[in-house]
Amino acid sequence: MLEEIKKTAAFLEQATESFRPEVGIILGTGLGDFAEQIDTKYAIDYHDIPGFPVSTVEGHKGRLIFGLVEGHRVVAMQGRFHYYEGYGMQQVTFPVRVMKLLGIRYLFVSNASGGINTSFRVGDLMVITDHINLMPNPLIGPNMAELGPRFPDMHNCYDRELIARATAIAEEEHIKLQYGVYVGGTGPTFETQAEYRYFKAIGGDAAGMSTVPEVIVARHMSVPVFGISVITNCGLSDEVGDHEDVQRQGRQAGTRMAVLFKRMIRSL
Ligand code: HPA
Repeated sequence: MLEEIKKTAAFLEQATESFRPEVGIILGTGLGDFAEQIDTKYAIDYHDIPGFPVSTVEGHKGRLIFGLVEGHRVVAMQGRFHYYEGYGMQQVTFPVRVMKLLGIRYLFVSNASGGINTSFRVGDLMVITDHINLMPNPLIGPNMAELGPRFPDMHNCYDRELIARATAIAEEEHIKLQYGVYVGGTGPTFETQAEYRYFKAIGGDAAGMSTVPEVIVARHMSVPVFGISVITNCGLSDEVGDHEDVQRQGRQAGTRMAVLFKRMIRSL
């Protein structure tokens, strides 16, 4: 496995003339537009990267973008790999390990999720302060000691310093932020009403089908993480959302998230 990761990293280093990104970014469903903020130097389709799985979900572009944001070198995944697509956890998290070998010192993650906290509204941005993992753990199996410890600590999983910075920036930019715990399930079904109530009872604020595996692997390698969930529906609400309205809210939230990510990267 480690050899595969190193091989892919070596391929990308050569393909990008040793670009050495400082920040890794994972763009979630509907949030790929952040790519427009990147002064792109190299864009490589996943299917042209040896060792990379290929994204199957519609609306996911499936490419790795190397470029500059506010003068900082970034690598962004436009489209990610989900467990519910049938990939193993090693495949889902493979790109994060590759990004670490390429040099990233921060990981920014984003996703679309369902609000469980009843004070959340569609279109809200939630800063992920912690998570609850309801998927298989990606670190099950022999430990790759070269990458990190057997029993990684998960305190401060979402970097407190980065969260504080986000709060300050959001105030300046008049962006409303929610804060909360992301519950990661396997999907692909959305939750039943009873499951949304269960997620709430165990301390969750938003429910989704991604992010947790990538974050666990990043923390295994001691990479600081910042995460944003865009609330695209409210699980415990009886209101059935107007589909167009939800899409519009999602786009607008994506624009606000782009401002936040951009300013945060500037501040690194
Ligand atoms: N549950 C799980 N994943 C999701 C949801 C949800 O309600 N909304 C968007 N992604």
